[in-house]
Amino acid sequence: MNKKTVRDVHVEGKRVLVRVDFNVPLTDGQVADDTRIRAALPTIRYLLEHGAAVILMSHLGRPKGEVCEELRMDPVARRLSELLGRDVINVDDCIGSEVESSAAALEPGQVLLLENLRFHPEESRNDPAFAQQLASLADVYVNDAFGTAHRAHASTSGVAQYLPAVAGLLMERELVVLGNALTSPARPFVAILGGAKVSGKIGVIRNLLSKVDFLLVGGAMASTFLKAKGHEVGRSLVDDESLPVARQMLEQAGGRLVLPVDVIVADAFAAGADAKTVNVEEVPATWRILDIGPRTLSLFQEKLASAKTVVWNGPMGVFEFPRFATGTVTLAKSLAETQATTIVGGGDSIAALQRAGLMDKMSHVSTGGGASLRFLEGKTLPAVAALEDREEDSAHD
Ligand code: 3PG
Repeated sequence: MNKKTVRDVHVEGKRVLVRVDFNVPLTDGQVADDTRIRAALPTIRYLLEHGAAVILMSHLGRPKGEVCEELRMDPVARRLSELLGRDVINVDDCIGSEVESSAAALEPGQVLLLENLRFHPEESRNDPAFAQQLASLADVYVNDAFGTAHRAHASTSGVAQYLPAVAGLLMERELVVLGNALTSPARPFVAILGGAKVSGKIGVIRNLLSKVDFLLVGGAMASTFLKAKGHEVGRSLVDDESLPVARQMLEQAGGRLVLPVDVIVADAFAAGADAKTVNVEEVPATWRILDIGPRTLSLFQEKLASAKTVVWNGPMGVFEFPRFATGTVTLAKSLAETQATTIVGGGDSIAALQRAGLMDKMSHVSTGGGASLRFLEGKTLPAVAALEDREEDSAHD
């Protein structure tokens, strides 16, 4: 990682503006899943322990540049306060005179949480004046919001123009773990991709195919590849526009792209649908593929048995319906048991891990959905590019 981090800057007695990704699910006005808040605690604690006054900022949902009462940061402030065991001051805006006074009055060891950044349309537009107003609140900028690093917004990119800008500890960990997997993975390196659409993941498939020993494909995405191979897939979800590129990839990848050999098909897209296991050559014309089959699971497990690095993104089937969750859950269990470095990204695979109670068994669960995909695609993340580079000499400290 060639970016400066919080460890490379002096923060004692400084006001530090930290971009976090507190875009968490809410239910009945309460934080329903605090994983992302917990993930930011090491950076917040580090700064507090080193004598900084901490000003946190985040977006929450997509309020489209307008104040939306349901998307205020109050429940996040309450949960953060419980987790930190100290008061979190929260204000009703993220810029303006009241916010400036609160920031100016902040003492070392205190925490201020700004209001949802996306209440202002200038945030997503990366408006320089808005970024400057945010920057004026502090002396140093820390970006710990890996989940939002693929967005070039005022708080993730623009603000870095006006303050010393470094990575937080979560951002550092994400970049190091994902970066090592792409640049110097312990081999065999196996990637597992699933989820619905091929089109959104073409760049990821291409980039991973140039790096992995095996790419295992499941989920609805597999139906597109099976159709591209000439199989009848019945009423399965197929991304027809991606068929030509899928054919091209199959040709180029040869045996490295591993597709299901059997699948569980259903007569309807419903939890209680009639289901049966068939070989991929035998999908009935009026049925649809909703999970991978047992022979496919064995084939995937065989590839995983010797793997030293595994990257997983996307479920193997419609795991929300218990009858079609076996592929995803069994694969998650195999990952939990392997000695390999296991890296999981994407909301659905993480939801599946949570359901199976296997979150703690992975080497790294990324806090980024879109951001981790963009990274796996080999693309530069604008929020990372905006941070200061380390000098050569300090790169190995
Ligand atoms: C996410 O949840 O993936 C990040 O917080 C980014 O949110 P966004 O897709 O609304 O920009």
